[in-house]
Amino acid sequence: MEQKHPYVIKEQAGTKYYCACGKSQNIPYCDGAHKGSNFHPWKVEISEEKTVAICSCGRSAKLPFCDGAHKSLE
Ligand code: FES
Repeated sequence: MEQKHPYVIKEQAGTKYYCACGKSQNIPYCDGAHKGSNFHPWKVEISEEKTVAICSCGRSAKLPFCDGAHKSLE
């Protein structure tokens, strides 16, 4: 799951489930691959259309969102 840049996505309003286990084939979204593990997806309510930056390095303190922590990897 380690990547040095966030996933920047223009999201529509609605409930989103972002992968927390890193095994999804549809990253950054959960595809159910976590089943049988102790991981659960991040559930996020998006109230209106907006662009979000989803963490891909796993080091953000604001998961599932990027907080710039990936910069320490560069
Ligand atoms: S597939 Fe990773 S949390 Fe669901």
